[in-house]
Amino acid sequence: MFMIIAISATLVGCASATSSGNIQVDSQIEANVPTEERSETETQLTAEVSDGELQVEPTPCSATLTPSNPEGPFYSPGAPERISLIESGMAGTPVLLVGRVMTTNCDPLPGALLDFWQTDVYGEYDNEGFELRGMLFADENGNYQLETILPGLYPGRPAHIHVKVTPTGRAEHTTQIYFPGSQFGDADDFVDSALIAALEEATGGNFIATFNFVMSP
Ligand SMILES: [Fe+2]
Repeated sequence: MFMIIAISATLVGCASATSSGNIQVDSQIEANVPTEERSETETQLTAEVSDGELQVEPTPCSATLTPSNPEGPFYSPGAPERISLIESGMAGTPVLLVGRVMTTNCDPLPGALLDFWQTDVYGEYDNEGFELRGMLFADENGNYQLETILPGLYPGRPAHIHVKVTPTGRAEHTTQIYFPGSQFGDADDFVDSALIAALEEATGGNFIATFNFVMSP
């Protein structure tokens, strides 16, 4: 099985699935800029997936445990299971978040549950429904991937994505993923270097973020 995931974004658009199984999402892009400075942007992200293996260079194994981080006040239990948080007409810069759930011995933790939540591009959480909230499971090799947008800036905080990681048979681990660069906001006391994703620009100006969850053996 070979599949190509393509996210292309223009100012206003819609989402569709093609007959070949490809996923194409067109959405409004007005990311991380004040309202008065927003302008039309076009971006495109393409990642290749073959037999569940994402063709993105994985980050190496690590002996550094993924630190915990506060849950914060905006977690909502019961988010839908899905691999994309992007919805039709959603503003933001698409990012493909990929990585592994594994131990410090580099052993995968297959089937780990990942429960994500984040702000929209304007730094606001959906506390009424489940916009930009979703759960998924790591595959048999501990790999996961999530299509989403780069989060906006919640007042007083750098851009971040919340996540609860629950490997099979283990306790829940709550933390936050951050992004490198001052454009994502100033670091605060919760930011740890081990919680900053590797971020690379993909075709057309979209992004691929890589982040591994490293647990004790
Ligand atoms: Fe938050």
